[in-house]
Amino acid sequence: MDLLFKGACLIRCTDPPSVGVADFRVMNGRITEIGEDLAAKQSTVLPMNGRWIFPGFVQSHIHLCQTLFRGMAEDRALLEWLGERIWPLEAAHDFESAYLSARLGIAELLLGGTTAFLDMGTLNHTNGLFIASEEAGVRATIGRALMDRPNPAGLHASHEKNLAGACEEADRWHGIGRLRYAFSPRFVPSCSEELLKNTLAEARKRDALIHTHASENTSEIALVREMTGYDNIEYFDSIGMLGSDVALAHCIHLSPSEMTLLGSSGTRVLHCPSSNMKLASGIAPLPELLRAGAHVSMGADGAPCNNRLDAFSEMRKAGLLQSLRLGPGHLSAATILEMMTIRGAEALGIADDVGSLEVGKAADFVVVDANHPSLIGTADPVQQLVYAAGPENVESVYIAGQRKVHKGTLENWGPALDYELLRTAAKKVQERASL
Ligand code: GUN
Repeated sequence: MDLLFKGACLIRCTDPPSVGVADFRVMNGRITEIGEDLAAKQSTVLPMNGRWIFPGFVQSHIHLCQTLFRGMAEDRALLEWLGERIWPLEAAHDFESAYLSARLGIAELLLGGTTAFLDMGTLNHTNGLFIASEEAGVRATIGRALMDRPNPAGLHASHEKNLAGACEEADRWHGIGRLRYAFSPRFVPSCSEELLKNTLAEARKRDALIHTHASENTSEIALVREMTGYDNIEYFDSIGMLGSDVALAHCIHLSPSEMTLLGSSGTRVLHCPSSNMKLASGIAPLPELLRAGAHVSMGADGAPCNNRLDAFSEMRKAGLLQSLRLGPGHLSAATILEMMTIRGAEALGIADDVGSLEVGKAADFVVVDANHPSLIGTADPVQQLVYAAGPENVESVYIAGQRKVHKGTLENWGPALDYELLRTAAKKVQERASL
């Protein structure tokens, strides 16, 4: 397929930033040319006047297995939310419900312009998440949530079983097409030190990411201190679990020395503003983290702690929260958009391929129709994308030059979503969890 997109305003998310009207050509799934007044040659010409085009969103913290649980875990803080609702629900998954939950989550992500993500799976049936991602053609980095400390929901397994299962999945999926594996110990309270250390070794052997949660909630960090004698980030430092291959979701409650550690180690911080608000976890100190040199990207987390998987809404909340916390002007819209695109790609280790609109990169991008009441005002599309736009403004979404969404409909997706089947699957998993 040889396509020429003509006359859109390109928000390229490059360094230095580039925003302006230009044409670009896509051949064999890659961007081959960007410039003014490109000749049609053999390309199919697509007029894009009045459109904004930007790189597909890369969300760096998602839980596809939880999509079916939307609205089933309300009004709780993290540890109760997990213990009373999420773990019993995850323990009640069978292969089909995990697969359907992922398919549903991916549909929502695509319709809102997300083309790549890092996902924490669950202890069982993580293959279902990979299969759904492979069928959808999205760029997915996924891993089984490793848990070897007992919990009342029974969502745990021996250290050996955890690790053997993760290695088997990594060997099956890591580097296959658009899929990658992330070794994903759930968080310190769920994992023995032996599991954390051996997971780290297996991940590094395979050049795979390590993905976990850290410093999200004050009761959690008190527990970590009690279990290990350290603050969470200091504990990770003590076992060698910091670095650019380590992705830590949340990072809200941090001492100044932990912020310095995050900055100096290149560890990936995954910011989840809606979830942090919904679970009353707190406000992550983003400007301070960025000043400390930390690498920050963003994700919607799971449907039961958000309750949307909408990148636009996360960007807007990231900005509004810092205004509320520090006053206006401490986090620019341009930085926020970068966190949702190129920084996400860097966190996933796929920035050579995606995250910005550049010649040679894969043609993963979103087209927004700016002719909409909510988008009239400043001519600055970056401000508009971060603070005003939503999934309703997405006209099309492309992955590797193939259109995946057009005018609110999924394309090249396989059978249409069966909403009755999905509702029944949600009800059944809730019943199996006795909730
Ligand atoms: N910490 C451990 N597990 C989870 C999870 O599933 N969601 C969130 N938000 N935090 C966690």
